[in-house]
Amino acid sequence: MQNRIATPVGITLDRFIKKKQNDFAFATGELSQLLRDIALAGKIIHREVNRAGLLSISGAYGTENVQGEEQQKLDVIANIRFIRALKNGGEVCAIVSEEDEEILDVQNPNGRYIVAMDPLDGSSNIDVNVSIGTIFSIFRRVSPVGGPVSQEDVLQKGSEQVAAGYLLYGSSTMMVYTTGRGVNGFTYDPSLGEFFLSHANIRIPKDGNIYSINEGSYESFEPHVIKYIKFCKKQNYTARYIGSLVADFHRNLLKGGIYIYPANKKSVNGKLRLNYECNALAFICEQAGGKATDGKQRILDIQPKSLHQRVPFYVGSTNMVDAATAD
Ligand code: AHG
Ligand code: MN
Ligand code: MN
Ligand code: MN
Repeated sequence: MQNRIATPVGITLDRFIKKKQNDFAFATGELSQLLRDIALAGKIIHREVNRAGLLSISGAYGTENVQGEEQQKLDVIANIRFIRALKNGGEVCAIVSEEDEEILDVQNPNGRYIVAMDPLDGSSNIDVNVSIGTIFSIFRRVSPVGGPVSQEDVLQKGSEQVAAGYLLYGSSTMMVYTTGRGVNGFTYDPSLGEFFLSHANIRIPKDGNIYSINEGSYESFEPHVIKYIKFCKKQNYTARYIGSLVADFHRNLLKGGIYIYPANKKSVNGKLRLNYECNALAFICEQAGGKATDGKQRILDIQPKSLHQRVPFYVGSTNMVDAATAD
């Protein structure tokens, strides 16, 4: 039986953050406050997601984002809610969002943090009542506090993240995050309005038998991907692909498995975005004992060149990522 951390399962997220903050000798409480701000926004999105069908806030918003994707109403609502929560929290100086082409300078020059976020991941699933999520990365700004936000602030390698996490709006709403000292999961109790520690010190199995990939693009995959898919079938592995990265990732994190979004004919760098999808999940996966690469190099070592840069993404159990990316 793996040794569980001393913290008892069931304490609230607030108490857990406070406890962990005390472990950091020079913690000023700003990162703690930022995590609370994100949890608050998650509670609000939980409420919107759970009423989407009733409030006619499902369906398309009628605009396209910088990705050329048709924005769903909940994409836009989630984006507004997170931006508002982060602005009101006062800890960030800038935000990078999937739903905004440019850097969002929140006019708070004393903010020490940058948040890169995918406010609603798995938008295609909103109208069919399938799990969706939010993904976030937190960086410390590199430009001087009090001055203007710089490009360097928002194009940092994933290895510079001070925290990362996701919210999963599924059969229950969960918040899973890391600050670089392991991964912990919290389940939301709407009747109390609190997140409670439910998955302490999450570790991903070194191996697994679940593979997640959209085989619809099989014909345009590179040879090593086709070879790996054939290997999975020969091994009688289980194919599970929900179309919500957060949901597929979370299941593989708990049970063992691999999620792959490789290069394909439509997109030579795959579909997923480095800054606000891959970096956060790569940080979490490595902190839980797993692996995340673009097929060649560690995701967290990639120097971003643009805000919405895409990368091929192989993430999950170490042995499976190694097997999938072997030549
Ligand atoms: P988003 O909804 O934030 O744009 O992300 C969708 C992503 C990811 O969540 C999912 O795994 C993948 O797109 C599904 O893509 P395909 O439909 O091309 O398989
Ligand atoms: Mn999208
Ligand atoms: Mn996404
Ligand atoms: Mn999204």
